[in-house]
Amino acid sequence: MSELSDEWRSKELRIAFVPTMGYLHAGHTSLMQIAQSNGDIVVSSIFVNPIQFAPHEDLDKYPRDLARDQKMAEQAGTVVLFVPSEKEMYHQDFQTFINVEEITRGLCGRSRPGHFRGVTTVVAKLFNIVKPHCAVFGQKDAQQVAVIRMMIRDLNYAIELIVGPIVREPDGLAMSSRNAYLSAQERQDALVLFKSLEHARKLVQNGERNSHVVVAEMEKIVNSVDSSRIDYIEIVDNRTLLPLDSIHDGTLLALAVYIGKTRLIDNCIINLP
Ligand code: PAF
Repeated sequence: MSELSDEWRSKELRIAFVPTMGYLHAGHTSLMQIAQSNGDIVVSSIFVNPIQFAPHEDLDKYPRDLARDQKMAEQAGTVVLFVPSEKEMYHQDFQTFINVEEITRGLCGRSRPGHFRGVTTVVAKLFNIVKPHCAVFGQKDAQQVAVIRMMIRDLNYAIELIVGPIVREPDGLAMSSRNAYLSAQERQDALVLFKSLEHARKLVQNGERNSHVVVAEMEKIVNSVDSSRIDYIEIVDNRTLLPLDSIHDGTLLALAVYIGKTRLIDNCIINLP
């Protein structure tokens, strides 16, 4: 992979990179299409990164289908699909980690300690191997985007960060590989995430600016189904991820909710005139 990248770079070809954990869906392929229009060569990776999962999380059952992924990635413009093995990525004596500190403490970082340390470590390794000019990440993982942005700045990676919009099912559910875990009833219940964001957006459009009022309204909607358990619903600054008492243009509304045993996340950025 690294040699290919050197060769492309020597020919002044622009490398656009999409890191994934596979089990691709339209959200991933949309990122590959964005990569295609931002580079000469699209490299995507599939690596289910063990160090971003806590011991009790879903590493072993994380869905995998390489044959299907290969077809989808190719159709979406990926030229090279980089699929390293765990052994290649982590030497048995591996002991070097990248940790972005403050902005990984809240939101998903609170209930998934160590998760972002695993993400930034693997993304740094992938950046070093693939040597992209730009990398495309999905807005659905809003905190991941903020953390990677900070890592790129702090570690002086000469990589442009491009953020692709959230891709949704026709009924509004944000696409996620973890949607595959949902039963038919849970799939229906999972719509409360999107519905609560839509309701919040309307409240803000109608003039509400108090974050606590908006969060309370969102909680009511999420709690209206039996299978849900809120991990967090928060209103924060999109860059620093610090909590905000009042909502401004560009404010991030983010939530993580268990539907049955499946933890789902979603978010929206408020646009005010
Ligand atoms: O968003 C993901 O799928 C993963 O966190 C990433 C960026 C591929 C790192 O493992």
